[in-house]
Amino acid sequence: MNYKNSMLKDNALESKTIVVTGGGTGLGKSMATYYSKLGANVVITSRKLEVLEKASKEITAETGNKVLPVVCDVRKEDQVNDLLKAAESEFGEVNGLLNNAAGNFISPTERLSPKAFGVIIDIVLKGTINCTMVFGKNWIDKKQPGTVLNIVTTYASTGSGYVVPSACAKAGVLAMTRSLAVEWAKYNIRFNAIAPGPFPTKGAWDRLVPKPLKDKISMEKRIPLKRTGDHQELANLAAYLMSDFSAYINGEVVTIDGGEWLQGAGQFNQLEAVPSEMWDMIEESIRGTKGS
Ligand code: HXC
Ligand code: NAP
Repeated sequence: MNYKNSMLKDNALESKTIVVTGGGTGLGKSMATYYSKLGANVVITSRKLEVLEKASKEITAETGNKVLPVVCDVRKEDQVNDLLKAAESEFGEVNGLLNNAAGNFISPTERLSPKAFGVIIDIVLKGTINCTMVFGKNWIDKKQPGTVLNIVTTYASTGSGYVVPSACAKAGVLAMTRSLAVEWAKYNIRFNAIAPGPFPTKGAWDRLVPKPLKDKISMEKRIPLKRTGDHQELANLAAYLMSDFSAYINGEVVTIDGGEWLQGAGQFNQLEAVPSEMWDMIEESIRGTKGS
């Protein structure tokens, strides 16, 4: 057994219906696949029907369970309302919402037009708010419990240059996670977040490690564990946090990044670069300062 294996029991999500935004590609597709493998009815959404239909067929072929593809631009509240209707009409009720859809690209902030800044805020922050409000109010009205899981990033907490719209939007999503975890607990609605470090996907890599930078940026080198994440280990965490096994976890953000963000934060972590043979000399020098 290792991190590439499934973690939960085969029926861990049986009889649950889970909506995954951005579920036709990348990490959303991997998490949707694992939810389906664990017995959930899954609804995947994004702006592109063709991509969704292909993903839905592939997932069903792998898991044997129905996956409903629904076109929905999360920026448009009317489309999110239609998404809820489609999910309920197919599966009866919705039990979980995975807010995963996002937009992002690297750019010096001074080069961004208001529209470029706004498009990221609209997809990531307003899109997550739209879905949370539509699904959340429906659960409250019907007195149904619900689980919301939000995919953020490690820089939602630390901030980061060159992805400032994304950092602002993800920080907002994290604030919403912690706020509603408390406010809506009385309705039996749980909120948690995952902050992934680098997990290779086409969507992220094309926009964050574009061709001219490929040789200049090494994600692996930045990470203490010297590797990027495997989709299954994220899916394992996302399944646990969506399942009833995590029923007492509420308002938490779980970082899964191989130690990447702490590597940058620890003041002396750069000493990793000191070769082992130099440490005798360094120790001698420090011991020599005794009493001075
Ligand atoms: C500067 C840019 C730009 C760029 C677009 N714009 N790309 N500005 N540098 N590289 C500007 C456009 O010129 C326009 O402004 C405005 O942004 C909107 O662009 P559109 O192309 O019209 O928007 P749209 O078609 O809605 O596409 C949205 C998008 C696109 C975000 C720009 O990349 C997209 O669809 N992304 C979805 C998938 C995605 O991004 N996945 C990555 C998630 S990864 P003007 O003013 O010129 O009209 C992630 C990982 C985080 O979040 C952490 C990793 C470790
Ligand atoms: P991805 O494949 O590009 O996923 C983004 C998804 O969001 C796409 O399916 C996209 O589909 C959808 N989307 C974008 N705008 C939308 C809109 N307006 N309405 C509905 N759907 C929309 O990239 P990914 O790497 O898997 O990212 C998934 C999540 O993980 C994101 O929240 C991202 O911030 C987070 N994350 C990723 C990494 C990483 O290393 N990969 C690290 C940290 C966090 P359409 O364009 O077809 O609509």
